[in-house]
Amino acid sequence: MQKNKIYIKSYGCQMNVYDSNRILDLFKNQNYEIADDPKEANLVVLNTCHIREKAAEKMYSDIGRINKLKRESATKNFKLVIAGCVAQAEGEEIKLRAPSVDFIVGPQSYHNLPNMLKTNDSILSDEFTQNEKFKNLIYNSSGGVSEFVSIQEGCDKFCSFCVVPYTRGPEFSRPVNEIVIEIEKYLKKGAKEIIFLGQNVNAYHGIGGDGKSKDLSYLIDKVSELENLKRIRYMTSHPIDMTDSLIKVHKSNHKLMPFLHLPIQSGSNKILKEMNRKHNVDFYKKIVEKLRDERSDIALSSDFIVGYPGESDKDFDDTMKFVNDINFVIAYSFIYSQRPGTPAQKKDNIPLAEKKARLSALQSLLREQQKNYNKSFVGKKMEILFEKKGRHTNQFIGRSIYNQSVFIKSESNLINKIIDAKIINSTDFALESSV
Ligand code: SAH
Ligand code: SF4
Ligand code: F3S
Repeated sequence: MQKNKIYIKSYGCQMNVYDSNRILDLFKNQNYEIADDPKEANLVVLNTCHIREKAAEKMYSDIGRINKLKRESATKNFKLVIAGCVAQAEGEEIKLRAPSVDFIVGPQSYHNLPNMLKTNDSILSDEFTQNEKFKNLIYNSSGGVSEFVSIQEGCDKFCSFCVVPYTRGPEFSRPVNEIVIEIEKYLKKGAKEIIFLGQNVNAYHGIGGDGKSKDLSYLIDKVSELENLKRIRYMTSHPIDMTDSLIKVHKSNHKLMPFLHLPIQSGSNKILKEMNRKHNVDFYKKIVEKLRDERSDIALSSDFIVGYPGESDKDFDDTMKFVNDINFVIAYSFIYSQRPGTPAQKKDNIPLAEKKARLSALQSLLREQQKNYNKSFVGKKMEILFEKKGRHTNQFIGRSIYNQSVFIKSESNLINKIIDAKIINSTDFALESSV
């Protein structure tokens, strides 16, 4: 009998990467092998993203390609699964637009997938059953130096542009002991770093061993008791959940890395209000001040949307001024994309050329800040955790405590080693070091 083989493609954020790993673990447990190419597989899973229009379109064009494989392998019992956020948001529409899809499963119900395949009786599973999901998943380490751990899911914030509250459901936090058990598994396989994931990771409020609700600062301190764990990071945070206890833990806990991804989206109070972000620019600046008081070297990163409906030249200038004031070490920026079902959907009044011009101006300012930041380390020593091999012979890639990518040449294998390395060169996006 031919062996079952699964191929999975992940779109979108790190939470999808984590989910894809869990889906692979579920099917490995059913004796599936992992295929590196969809051509070799008889089960193809597209783990999709709905955040911007382009991401969702990509799924439909990939379905077209997979259909061709499906037709060519009529004898292979070939199944196509659409998982992730598009499955959740547009399950019914996918059924109509792409009848070749066999199963549709949302981000909070994919633990049902092996069963759905066996019974073949359900095409759509889109319940928000977070609790049940995490209990039924399998957590095998990929053997990586750094491992993602989803600790929180969903969002209750309802920013007016964003689909996440509809695709991932309400905020949910996993219990502390479940998270510790998962991390211990990864540490046994040699992991040194854990990256806590959540759509609003700092809204974490899981149940502790004493039956009481615990916040993220508690969880960070708790897992840092695990001796083999050397580095802790978390993403993505919302400014209104940046509590004083979380800010303080950046000083008191040395395993917590001095890097924070804290999206603001815009530097204009008017636009922040329109976006329903629940805070203004001063509120964000105050958090940065408090963070820098506790940990002066903390590296800050953010997300921005340009061309939001009603964004005037002045609003955009405010964003540029804000970026100049804060000085980000890296940041991501996007052109506003109208999303179905969101309150901002109907409004989109900035011409594309203007949006593109603003994006380009913002990105060059951000790139300049990143370049200067990286340059400031040349000649200094930094603690780097090396994670993988680079493209060139004897080259290894790691990350600094500030999350920069660092390249090094070495005759000996540096993977999974923490080294105090000298930075000898910098580019816009990375650092080069020597032992
Ligand atoms: N939970 C996080 C991030 C969610 S999505 C937060 O609250 O910040 C990641 C990023 O995608 C967002 O920070 C935002 O910058 C961008 N994004 C979300 N919806 C978008 C849309 N409709 N158009 C363009 N960018 C969007
Ligand atoms: Fe989306 Fe806002 Fe929730 Fe972030 S906080 S996931 S941007 S709704
Ligand atoms: Fe995309 Fe869903 Fe993540 S919409 S960004 S995959 S939470």
